[in-house]
Amino acid sequence: MRIVLVGPPGAGKGTQAQFIASHLAIPKISTGDIFRHNVTNGTPLGRQAKEYMNRGDLVPDEVTIAMVRDRLGEDDAQAGFLLDGFPRNVPQAETLKKLLTDWGTRLTVVLELVVDEDEVVRRLSGRRTCRRCERVWHILFDPPTRDGICDACGGELFQRDDDREETVRHRLEVYTKQTAPLVAYYADEGILIGIDATGPVEEITERALAALRPFAR
Ligand code: AP5
Repeated sequence: MRIVLVGPPGAGKGTQAQFIASHLAIPKISTGDIFRHNVTNGTPLGRQAKEYMNRGDLVPDEVTIAMVRDRLGEDDAQAGFLLDGFPRNVPQAETLKKLLTDWGTRLTVVLELVVDEDEVVRRLSGRRTCRRCERVWHILFDPPTRDGICDACGGELFQRDDDREETVRHRLEVYTKQTAPLVAYYADEGILIGIDATGPVEEITERALAALRPFAR
């Protein structure tokens, strides 16, 4: 299956992507994670992306698209993938469509995680991420056993720079203006499904897998 996850910052895309991708045995491709790796490692791509990410703006399309094209060309993505954080605007969606058409394939389904703004602000303010394995935690809703330490791998947990309150507000504006139009775009394409993404994480995973089941071949 070739799946895109869409939803506002803090909707739980990263949280759900890890479970859905592992259940379907397809790679999870998160543009945010790839950018953050590059920022941490000080690569040229990371240096290009850092200032946009810290402001909560989108990294320019030409940079993002080149990176995604390379990643989708890798062997493990040939039988399917789950995209988390891409596309992020209509031009990226058009480019993805063309790229897949050129490769003789197309998206199977786009899954929208529906959550209101108050909930995403609560989620982002308590988010912590593992530096080593990237497992996402929440200090109240999904706390690790030991403060600041990842239960999955023992790595150190950190708070993302773009989770500061004013940056979160700006990211939500960017979502509304640039990314939310994708919901109508994919509805027009006839491949959009949406689920309520509030409630316990495991229940949302169940809802997502049930919604995706009819698309599995
Ligand atoms: P990216 O990393 O993609 O950030 P985002 O879309 O803003 O999404 P988040 O990672 O903030 O949230 P999420 O939906 O994954 O939620 P999570 O699962 O962590 O992008 C970051 C930046 O990179 C962008 O701003 C941009 O600069 C750049 N970028 C990336 N892609 C780009 C592109 N295509 N084009 C241009 N630029 C791009 O959950 C949030 C918290 O809630 C966690 O603490 C979690 O534990 C908790 N939680 C999850 N589910 C629940 C639940 N059911 N109940 C309670 N808490 C929950």
